[in-house]
Amino acid sequence: MAGNRTFTMIKPDAFEAGNSGAILKMIEEAGFKIVAMKATRLTPELAGKFYEVHKERPFYADLCAYMSSGPIIAAILEKDNAVEDFRTLIGATNPANAAEGTIRKIFAKSIEANAVHGSDSDENAAIEGNFYFSQTERVI
Ligand code: CMP
Repeated sequence: MAGNRTFTMIKPDAFEAGNSGAILKMIEEAGFKIVAMKATRLTPELAGKFYEVHKERPFYADLCAYMSSGPIIAAILEKDNAVEDFRTLIGATNPANAAEGTIRKIFAKSIEANAVHGSDSDENAAIEGNFYFSQTERVI
């Protein structure tokens, strides 16, 4: 059975542009509940750790520099079928391929500065949520 939690980051481009509120509104209107949330900033080392699975990819160094270039919002979200439904809400990684009305179609600037992150599996949702939040930081 699909899990009911996913993890998201509002990335530096969207935070800097002042789109965090509009993005969170879309997330809540799509039926996701916020279980934990904070504004924070990654160091290049922490960004490297978060995206370690991509370390052999040609875009890894740029991605770590970009993700540590400014504040972000990290959040754990709850909804039935959370991982899949959230990926539908945000749209394709490359905004050029994202469906109309999706968060990335509306807010992303490029394949790298693509406004939001969404976990790609229940397992990674748990790992990524635990990366940012201890049990005492969670509302639920
Ligand atoms: P995200 O869903 O957070 O997962 C990995 C991130 O790497 C992705 O969003 C983009 O920000 C970035 N990314 C993925 N593919 C590319 C690419 N081809 N070029 C640059 N950045 C990429």
